[in-house]
Amino acid sequence: MRKKIVAGNWKMNKTFIDAEELISDIADLLEEIDLGNTEVIICPPFLFLEIATDIAEEANYSVGAQNMSDQEAGAFTGEISGAMLASMEVEYCIIGHSERRKYHHETHEMLARKIDLALTHSIRPIFCCGEILAEREAGMHMEIVKKQLEESLFHLNETELSSVVIAYEPVWAIGTGVNATAAQAQEMHAYIRDLVKTRYSQQIAFETSILYGGSCNSKNAKELFAQQDVDGGLIGGASLDASEFIRIIQSF
Ligand code: PGA
Repeated sequence: MRKKIVAGNWKMNKTFIDAEELISDIADLLEEIDLGNTEVIICPPFLFLEIATDIAEEANYSVGAQNMSDQEAGAFTGEISGAMLASMEVEYCIIGHSERRKYHHETHEMLARKIDLALTHSIRPIFCCGEILAEREAGMHMEIVKKQLEESLFHLNETELSSVVIAYEPVWAIGTGVNATAAQAQEMHAYIRDLVKTRYSQQIAFETSILYGGSCNSKNAKELFAQQDVDGGLIGGASLDASEFIRIIQSF
C-alpha cells in the first residue's frame, strides 16, 4: 500500500528561534495523534536542517531539504550537495519546485542530475511538476507535466523510481489562495499515475505516492485527499503554523 504523505515546505521563512519553536510544536502535536499510514515530512531552510534532524530523533516526522546542487562537490560557492544533506541525516529533498525553475532557471537536465545525485546519496526526491496558468488555459497542462516527468524523471530504472515521491503543483495555485479543485487534482494525478504505469509497471504506479500542492490548507485538504489518486500534500504557507499543519495531517 502506498504511503500517505504530508510534507511542509517552509520556503524562505522563519529565523532560528522561530524555526526551533515551530518544529518543537509540530513534534509535540504529532505525539498526540495516531498517524497510521501517514508520513509527515518537514522541509525547513538548509540552516535549520540540523535542529530538525536533532528533534526528529525523538519525534514522528522525517526531514527534507528544499533544494540541492546538481554538482557532486567543488568550487560552487553557496551550494549544498547531496552528500552534505545525507551526512546530516536528511531523508528527502524537494527537486524541481516551480519557484526554482522560475527564479533560478533550473532546466529539465539540471533537475535530472539533481535526481540522480539525490538517489546516489540515498535521499528520496520529492519531484515537483505542474503547469502555469496560460498552459492550463491553452489546454496544454497534461502535455507540460508529461514532458517534465519524461525529461527529468523517466530516465530512472524501476528500483530508482520507487524511491521518488511526485508532487503535482499547478503553478497558478501556489501561494495564490486558489487551489485546484478536487476534480482537477484527481484528473492530473490519475494521468501521472497512468504515465508511470505506461513507462514502468502497474505495480510501481500503484505504489508511487503522488502529492498535491498549491494553496492546500485545512479547509480544502479533506476533499483533495479523499480523491483516489491524491496521496497527500506538499504544503507551503499552511505548514508555517503548527496547529494548521496538524489539521491538514488529520485530513485523511
Ligand atoms: P502553498 O505552496 O501551499 O503556499 O501554495 C505550496 C508549495 O509551493 O509547495
